[in-house]
Order: sequence, then structure tokens, then C-alpha cells
Amino acid sequence: MKILVINGPNINMLGIREKNIYGAETYADLTALLETTAKEHDVDLTLFQSNHEGAIVDTIQGAFFDGTEGIIINPAAYTHTSVAILDALKAVNLPTVEVHISDVSQREDFRQVSYAGKACVKTIMGKGFAGYQEAMLFLLAEYSKK
Ligand code: DQA
Repeated sequence: MKILVINGPNINMLGIREKNIYGAETYADLTALLETTAKEHDVDLTLFQSNHEGAIVDTIQGAFFDGTEGIIINPAAYTHTSVAILDALKAVNLPTVEVHISDVSQREDFRQVSYAGKACVKTIMGKGFAGYQEAMLFLLAEYSKK
């Protein structure tokens, strides 16, 4: 199965930013974990991180044309603001799982809205990096054609 993992703004600062919320592990640790998990399950994995909303929209659109079969997305702060990312996810209409490292349901009021989540088949939050692994296994179980 061909899966695209998208991480939004400041996810590249994992291990530096608010360690009490996001932990001490880095973005490189996250990509290594996902690459290992993908290899174990024969997933054709593409990893993308950007701090720019338009670049994320472009990457979602590209997934429609390159054979991607499922998306895992942590839009980070754009979760709570971006209709453009929601519209892009709706446009490509690929099975998408929303992941948040922290449990946003227990955080500030402004984090209680997820635009992207409205286009997702599942949301996983508060499970740290393991949430991305769970998302990958979910897509494989529910959407893999093999
Ligand atoms: C986050 C939660 C968002 O509210 C925040 O803006 C992030 C990370 C998470 O993974 O917990 O940057 O998406």
C-alpha cells in the first residue's frame, strides 16, 4: 500500500519545542520509526513535513496523481485554522487518518476545532508517536487492496 505521511508546522522542532507536551524525541526519531514500521508491513512510504500551508495543499493534491492510497496527516496548528487543507483532502478523497501527538481534546479552547478532521475517516490523539503507527496499521487493515 502506498501511504503518504504529512506533518505540519513546527513538527520539525520535536525534541526542542514544549517537551512537556510533545516529548524529547525528535522529528528524525519519528521518521525512523515510521520507516521501520513501513518496512515491516511492506508499505511504500512517503514522508513530508512543511511549515507552509500551500506546500501542504500542493502535496495533498499531488497524492491524487501519484498513486497514493492513504494519507496520515498531522496538520499541527493548521488543524485549527485551515479550510484550504480541508478542501484539498476533500478534493483528493483518499482515506485519511488525522493524528495528533498530544491529546488536543484536553488543551486550549482554540484547539477544539479540527477542520482537517472533517475529511478524515479516523482521528488518533494523545498517543505520541505510536499514534502514527496505529494510523498506518488502520489504513492497512481497512483500505489495503492486497
Ligand atoms: C499537534 C496539536 C496542535 O494543536 C499543535 O498546534 C501542534 C501539534 C499535536 O500533534 O499534538 O503543533 O497537532
